[in-house]
Amino acid sequence: MKNILVTGGTGFIGSHTVLELLNQNYRVTVIDNLSNSKLESLKRVETITGRNACFKKIDLLDVKALEELFSTNDFDAVIHFAGLKAVGESVEYPLRYYKNNINGTVNLCEAMVNAGVKNIVFSSSATVYGDPEKSPILEDSPLTSVNPYGRTKLTIEYILQELHYADDTWNIALLRYFNPVGAHESGEIGEDPNGIPSNLMPFITQVAVGKLPELKIFGGNYPTHDGTAIRDYIHVCDLATGHLKALEKLDENPGIAIYNLGTGKGSSVLDVITAFEKATGMMIPYTITDRRSGDAVICYADVTKANNELNWKTHRDLVDMCRDSWNWQQKNPDGYL
Ligand code: NAD
Ligand code: UFG
Repeated sequence: MKNILVTGGTGFIGSHTVLELLNQNYRVTVIDNLSNSKLESLKRVETITGRNACFKKIDLLDVKALEELFSTNDFDAVIHFAGLKAVGESVEYPLRYYKNNINGTVNLCEAMVNAGVKNIVFSSSATVYGDPEKSPILEDSPLTSVNPYGRTKLTIEYILQELHYADDTWNIALLRYFNPVGAHESGEIGEDPNGIPSNLMPFITQVAVGKLPELKIFGGNYPTHDGTAIRDYIHVCDLATGHLKALEKLDENPGIAIYNLGTGKGSSVLDVITAFEKATGMMIPYTITDRRSGDAVICYADVTKANNELNWKTHRDLVDMCRDSWNWQQKNPDGYL
């Protein structure tokens, strides 16, 4: 039975991935500083799966705690979700982002080196493609960063690749997520943003539940089929299984393995609203306002590489994503409490 350390495992994507790991009989240790999540998510994962994970409240900036953790456990691999992820906040507080995301990752990797653990799956992002010149985007497309958050992701990708160049016994999967949405079908775990959501799907579900009056669509005159911007929304449960496939890939000693995780399908903001209305029968009031600064126009993945090399594909469409997001929101109007 493989023993996996999951950093950030009480967060949105982490909790859904821990659920899949437990379902597949992995032994799981979760560390999280709970800065953007609640332990309740893990308790619910344990209830859903009927299996237990070990939890330790550890901050990646705490070098001693990491050393202690690695000296008392024998991990086969690490899935590294922990990090701050709000683009706007990263512009306001860049040092917080560089310190937390980059120093945190360096500390983690040092502890891994000292313990001889050299397998890691890292949560990267489509943000490393900036405002892409063309979609679908291949993994070898030009990389750039357009805000401090994006620079932390790109920098960590480089740090991990340099670790491999220095010591080719490292195996590293860089997973570039597109737009994760949805929730586990039980409606027991889901995305629980602090304050007013900045992302589209939680904003829509909060309008639907009556917490927010209407959606503001950022830009209605983009060069797309309906004038609104296009993204590649992926169900978080499909994304979660991608991590298990990436872990299996590491067993083949691939060195550096880089994959886009999306559906390969672009949907506009208005397409999402239409899908939400189809999934729930609810109308979402909206107005079209100015474009949001820094937004890409069209961003969707070419997922051929992940399909072929990981033997992974998505199973849920946009209507499924909307239905499950709404189910979670409806059952938990105030999140985990
Ligand atoms: P999340 O905020 O729900 O989960 C991240 C977790 O990391 C939280 O539980 C937080 O408490 C924890 N954390 C943060 N800093 C920490 C530290 N120093 N020590 C220990 N724990 C710490 O976010 P998520 O949506 O689940 O995202 C997971 C990862 O995926 C992040 O690295 C994020 O940048 C990346 N990602 C997310 C998206 C998205 O749209 N959700 C898209 C692309 C990439
Ligand atoms: N949008 C609205 N109104 C809102 C919120 C969003 O119209 O209230 C639009 C945006 O303009 C964009 C689309 O909905 O066209 C999706 O926006 P999100 O904020 O949900 O997602 P982004 O694609 O902007 O950002 C996501 C992650 C970032 C990551 C980026 C690139 O949240 O962390 O993808 O990978 F950097």
